[in-house]
Amino acid sequence: MVETFLGRFHFHFDNRRLDFKRWISALISSHKTLFTVLWIVAFASIFVWQRSIVDGLRIFGRAHPARPIPRLRPVAFNLTDFGGVGDGVTVNTEAFERAVTAISKLGSRGGGQLNVQPGRWLTGPFNLTSHMTLFLAEDAVILGIQDEKLWPLMPPLPSYGYGREHPGPRYGSLIHGQNLKDVVITGHNGTIDGQGQAWWVKYRQKLLNHTRGPLVQIMFSRDIQISNITLRNSPFWTFHPYDCKNVIIKNVTILAPIFEAPNTDGIDPDSCENVVIENCYISVGDDGIAIKSGWDQYGINYGQPSANILIRNLVVRSMVSAGVSIGSEMSGGVSNVTVENLYVWNSRRGVRIKTSPGRGGYVRHITYRNVTFDNVRVGIVIKTDYNEHPDGGYDPKALPVLGDISFTAIHGQGVRVPVRIHGSEEIPVRNVTFRDMSVGITYKKKHIFQCAFVQGRVIGTIFPAPCENFDRYDEQERLVKRSVSQNITDIDYDF
Ligand SMILES: *[C@@H]1O[C@H](CO)[C@@H](O)[C@H](O)[C@H]1NC(C)=O
Ligand SMILES: *[C@@H]1O[C@H](CO)[C@@H](O)[C@H](O)[C@H]1NC(C)=O
Ligand SMILES: *[C@@H]1O[C@H](CO)[C@@H](O)[C@H](O)[C@H]1NC(C)=O
Ligand SMILES: *[C@@H]1O[C@H](CO)[C@@H](O)[C@H](O)[C@H]1NC(C)=O
Ligand SMILES: *[C@@H]1O[C@H](CO)[C@@H](O)[C@H](O)[C@H]1NC(C)=O
Ligand SMILES: *[C@@H]1O[C@H](CO)[C@@H](O)[C@H](O)[C@H]1NC(C)=O
Ligand SMILES: *[C@@H]1O[C@H](CO)[C@@H](O)[C@H](O)[C@H]1NC(C)=O
Ligand SMILES: *[C@@H]1O[C@H](CO)[C@@H](O)[C@H](O)[C@H]1NC(C)=O
Ligand SMILES: *[C@@H]1O[C@H](CO)[C@@H](O)[C@H](O)[C@H]1NC(C)=O
Ligand SMILES: *[C@@H]1O[C@H](CO)[C@@H](O)[C@H](O)[C@H]1NC(C)=O
Repeated sequence: MVETFLGRFHFHFDNRRLDFKRWISALISSHKTLFTVLWIVAFASIFVWQRSIVDGLRIFGRAHPARPIPRLRPVAFNLTDFGGVGDGVTVNTEAFERAVTAISKLGSRGGGQLNVQPGRWLTGPFNLTSHMTLFLAEDAVILGIQDEKLWPLMPPLPSYGYGREHPGPRYGSLIHGQNLKDVVITGHNGTIDGQGQAWWVKYRQKLLNHTRGPLVQIMFSRDIQISNITLRNSPFWTFHPYDCKNVIIKNVTILAPIFEAPNTDGIDPDSCENVVIENCYISVGDDGIAIKSGWDQYGINYGQPSANILIRNLVVRSMVSAGVSIGSEMSGGVSNVTVENLYVWNSRRGVRIKTSPGRGGYVRHITYRNVTFDNVRVGIVIKTDYNEHPDGGYDPKALPVLGDISFTAIHGQGVRVPVRIHGSEEIPVRNVTFRDMSVGITYKKKHIFQCAFVQGRVIGTIFPAPCENFDRYDEQERLVKRSVSQNITDIDYDF
């Protein structure tokens, strides 16, 4: 394509030069000074013309023309229709707000679509509306403004009673929504970039008085879909659906630095029902996914569980925390979660359930299937003493119930501790099943399958050999040997 274009370039150039010569000879007969001046002007204009051709060539050489934006709603707008400027400097908060106001009037007619064209669109936080599609073109980047004074404060989440990092109000999210229905954020892999660096630094230096805001937070809503885009550098949790129903996240890339980007969880379904997360790539500075349902007494009172969650076909990296977590805030309960075809690489932990006395609630009916750990320090973790509380008002006798958890087809290599299930006398872990597991370990030592206060069964042969707490069954699920005690404790955090 470039060669053809160059050929065309020479052709035009020669033509132009021929015209030019004829024009010059006409001039020579008239005035000599005028001739000199004109010669210079003409030469300069050819130079400028040539340069513009070269610039054109560079744009042309971008491999492909811009992909046309599909029409996904009856009415579509461009952000520029509302005065948006994608120069990376102009603040577009009002343009987004005007666009959302326009779309909010179209609900009864199938809603509206807002196209964000290629460019860098700096903005402060703004709200979405129902029946809206936000479409990010290829090379469109929405940039979160870093000045926290432009981030509105919101009351604490009812199930946290607290801003999570500081008491009292918290910053809202860059892209926010409450009480919505039918919202889609999609595109040709455009990006929402929270520019979280400034927030992380201020957080570490303890310069913030309020809890940082998520990148995208949708609350009390239903029928939400996020697909085909990239989310990066969130100030705090990246996507936080809170008390929502019917949430689909597919084919999304979520990125943040793997170190020194505190609390940049990828996706935190929180008191949500009917959630599908699939075909995503997540590499962040905290948990890739963390399923939650509120914190201690506030979460118990709010009483809204996370349930019916399907997570599949994911590649996740988390050097600081875990690939897929449940908890530690799970006080409204978490149930019916399936995690399958998960690949966790170069991470601290693979999959983790974390809780503590005071949480109340439950974690049950959790299925892990076809999970691969590649260079992970601890593969499977259940931790029952994650003692982080909103305030002194929690009830230490509110004990979470953990059980009915199964692990099937667990594979991997380069894992230091494949399993650490640390139940306690107060919070025993019940009915855990292992079947078909072979995980390559980095050290052939003791303490590689660590257990305490866990009851359950192992079906068939697994590697590494399970702890004595489990009953043994053969492949046909016939009892081979019953465990003498589920209370045996072999936990070693030095590993
Ligand atoms: C949006 O801008 C594109 C060019 O980028 C143009 O083709 C299209 O007609 C515009 N659409 C609307 C709804 O204004
Ligand atoms: C955004 O939504 C929140 C919650 O509904 C509301 O408090 C706030 O005023 C809204 N902001 C704007 C600019 O509409
Ligand atoms: C995933 O999204 C990219 C653009 O972000 C698109 O090119 C690709 O076709 C999508 N894949 C699927 C399976 O939807
Ligand atoms: C989307 O963009 C991200 C960030 O630039 C990139 O890592 C990812 O591979 C892209 N996804 C697709 C499907 O092209
Ligand atoms: C935090 O509060 C202190 C004392 O009121 C104030 O000086 C400082 O500017 C505040 N910082 C931010 C980021 O709001
Ligand atoms: C993602 O992009 C692909 C390719 O453009 C498209 O076929 C698919 O419908 C999109 N998926 C969603 C859920 O938007
Ligand atoms: C469990 O969740 C799945 C989605 O992953 C759903 O299809 C199924 O109906 C749920 N089961 C129950 C008993 O609610
Ligand atoms: C297991 O998961 C991997 C991704 O980690 C995938 O490539 C493979 O196809 C899955 N196997 C089955 C049987 O689904
Ligand atoms: C143990 O958990 C499995 C799911 O992993 C469930 O099917 C089974 O009914 C549970 N057994 C008991 C006795 O509750
Ligand atoms: C195991 O611990 C439980 C709870 O503390 C206790 O009820 C039970 O008697 C203990 N069993 C054995 C065999 O020590």
